[in-house]
Amino acid sequence: MSQLELVAVSKIYRVDQTAIPALNQVSLRVERGEFLSVVGHSGSGKSTLVSVIGGILRPSSGQVLFGGHDISALDDGGLSAYRNRRVGFIFQFASLLPVLTARENVMLAALFGENRSRREQERADHLLDLVGIGDRVNAYPWQLSGGQQRRVAIARALMNQPELLLADEPTGDLDEQTEAEIMALLSRINREERVTMILITHNRALAKTASRMLRMKQGHLDPEVLKA
Ligand SMILES: Nc1ncnc2c1ncn2[C@@H]1O[C@H](COP(=O)(O)OP(=O)(O)O)[C@@H](O)[C@H]1O
Ligand SMILES: [Mg+2]
Repeated sequence: MSQLELVAVSKIYRVDQTAIPALNQVSLRVERGEFLSVVGHSGSGKSTLVSVIGGILRPSSGQVLFGGHDISALDDGGLSAYRNRRVGFIFQFASLLPVLTARENVMLAALFGENRSRREQERADHLLDLVGIGDRVNAYPWQLSGGQQRRVAIARALMNQPELLLADEPTGDLDEQTEAEIMALLSRINREERVTMILITHNRALAKTASRMLRMKQGHLDPEVLKA
C-alpha cells in the first residue's frame, strides 16, 4: 500500500456564480520516504494540491488516502488531527510569531499536537540544532536572517514528528545561496529523518534534485519527462 494515494481528485472553487476548476482528476501515488517535486506556472493548482493532500481543503470529488484511509471521509476533528499530527507544513514565508523566540515558535506546534510533555523544549532545541541554528534558540525572529527564519519554520514543521512534509515554494523570497542551503537541508531531512517530502518550487534546478519530478498544468498533474 502506498503511503499517500490520490484517486481522481478534483477541486472546484465556487466564487459567486463562477466555478473555478483548480484540480482536474488528479491521481498520484507516493511511497514512504519519497522526495517529490512539483513545478508549474502560477495558478496551475499547486497550492490547492498541497492543501488537499494536507487536509486543509476537502476535494470536490475523488479520494485522498493516507495509509490506506480516506482522509476526506474524516469529520473536522479527525481532519485536524491528521493535519497536526501526521503532516508538517512549510509555507512560502517563514510566518514566525514575532513575539516568540525561535524555541517558542517551534514549541508552539506542540500546542496543537499531542506532544505536551516537558520534553517539548528538549525536542525544540534538538530540532533547532538539526536545522543548524542550535546556538540561536533564544533569538527573536527580527534577530534572525531570512534563511535562519526559514530554518526555524522547518524545525517547527518537524515538531510533531510528521510522516509527510509539504513545502509550498519554501524558498521563493530567498537569495540563491540561501535557497541552495535550505534545499540541501530539506533533502537531508528527507534522508535522515525518513520523512516523505513534497516540494512545490518554481526553480527547475532545485526541482531536479528530487527523486521524482511532476508538473502541474491547468489542474492536471503529469510526470515531468525532462528530468535528466
Ligand atoms: N480560495 C480560492 N477561491 C477561489 N479561487 C481560488 C482560491 N484559491 C485558488 N484559486 C484559484 O484556483 C486556481 C489554482 O490556484 P493555486 O492552487 O493557488 O495555484 P498555484 O499554487 O499553482 O499558483 C487559480 O485559478 C486560482 O486563482
Ligand atoms: Mg501557489
